Amino acid sequence: MTTSAPKPLNVQQVILDLQDAIEFVNGRLINRADVVEQIFCALLTGEHALIQSRTGVGKSLMTEQIFRMFKGARYFKVQASKEQQPDTYFGGLNIEELKQGRIIHNTAGSLVESEFGFIDEIFDANDFTLRALLALLNERELILGAQRERAAIHTVIAATNYLRISEITEALLDRFTYQSVVYPDKDPYLQYRIAQQYLRHGGQPATPPKQIEFETLRQVTAICTGSSDQMEIAIPPEIIYYGNVVVRYYEELRNRQLAQGTSYGTPGRDYYISPRKQVKAFDLLRAIAFMHGRSSVTQADVEKLYVLFTTIGIEDERNSWNKATSALSHQFGASQAFEQLKTLLEFKALLDQLKVNPDLLQQPLTSIENLPIKRTLREWAKETFGMADVQVEQNRRLMTDYLDRFQPATDEVRDLRAQLQHDLHQIFRVRNSGETPLH
Ligand SMILES: Nc1ncnc2c1ncn2[C@@H]1O[C@H](COP(=O)(O)OP(=O)(O)O)[C@@H](O)[C@H]1O
Ligand SMILES: [Mg+2]
Repeated sequence: MTTSAPKPLNVQQVILDLQDAIEFVNGRLINRADVVEQIFCALLTGEHALIQSRTGVGKSLMTEQIFRMFKGARYFKVQASKEQQPDTYFGGLNIEELKQGRIIHNTAGSLVESEFGFIDEIFDANDFTLRALLALLNERELILGAQRERAAIHTVIAATNYLRISEITEALLDRFTYQSVVYPDKDPYLQYRIAQQYLRHGGQPATPPKQIEFETLRQVTAICTGSSDQMEIAIPPEIIYYGNVVVRYYEELRNRQLAQGTSYGTPGRDYYISPRKQVKAFDLLRAIAFMHGRSSVTQADVEKLYVLFTTIGIEDERNSWNKATSALSHQFGASQAFEQLKTLLEFKALLDQLKVNPDLLQQPLTSIENLPIKRTLREWAKETFGMADVQVEQNRRLMTDYLDRFQPATDEVRDLRAQLQHDLHQIFRVRNSGETPLH
């Protein structure tokens, strides 16, 4: 990949082009809109997707059609099988190196040097190859024996026969951020429309009127993953907190249903969302905001995270997600909880500042620059103590009383307050004993 400065992105145009691309794919693929949307989420955030289904439901066609919407990307496609060695994915062994006793793959034209990949029947690969492959997908680096090489991979779509999915370990599945299950279409009207498309295009992907430059997609991904210097999409702290609360509640709900035997899942295995997966939520939230032309994430965007946390196509999971989001959005909306989260997280920002620089306590808190909590705290101090400015001991009292008298509207807010009370206590204990503050 070249390192020359990228052209500035025309955000409005890119959004329209992406929307057109999604619409075009949905014209060619019948009844696949949810999965298509999910795969575009994977593309925007630079993640991988796994589709489970029986044969002949349009997985290959959909994948080809989606990748066809972009130009300037290298595409690697393979059908996995037991006999394959890692060479299939990483390139043949370099003979000269081998004579010197080194195992080095010649990666030209391999998956390592492709931006897009499609791996059909991925779990047919033997364990050794599969492990190396998933490490490559996860690290985006070929690490095999003595060889280390940066991979160009942006998004790999893998397909598998869903009947075998229960044998696949959690660790392997966790590498695929986005997952779906597709059922064959048996409805006569859908079958008619599939036939119409077949008669027009044969089994081939259709040629789109416009292709999006891969470089443009790469820039959008940088925005969605927070690594762009062109555009930043803000996620307010209270939304980060709220999002995590929703995800935790969903996880609990799924486990409760599993324990009661009322839900889809693998018998004997709990439902677990890894921290690896949980943080991906923030990339998806930024992608959602981006597609709406916003530079900030909203509370409503959190609902849309089912694309990441549920298996598209599994109704049970979707229902649990809806239950979790509606319960919490109701609870947070009906009470002052959302405002309270915002206030307490601003308070946390103050504590963070005091931890780094305890000398700030020598000044009246209300004079510290760039302090979002300042206004709330000052108003409260005025009301309570009849004064605006207070010093060290008064600062301590001020902050302690502020938290003590804070009336949490929900359990989640109460938990957060308890954490802050603990942090505050630490700061003053450290000050009084003259120790260096621990961060
Ligand atoms: N939902 C669909 N929309 C359009 N065509 C479909 C759909 N499902 C199946 N087809 C047709 O069936 C053919 C086989 O699909 P394919 O992509 O090879 O399935 P899979 O990869 O899931 O085995 C496609 O080329 C297409 O003609
Ligand atoms: Mg296929």
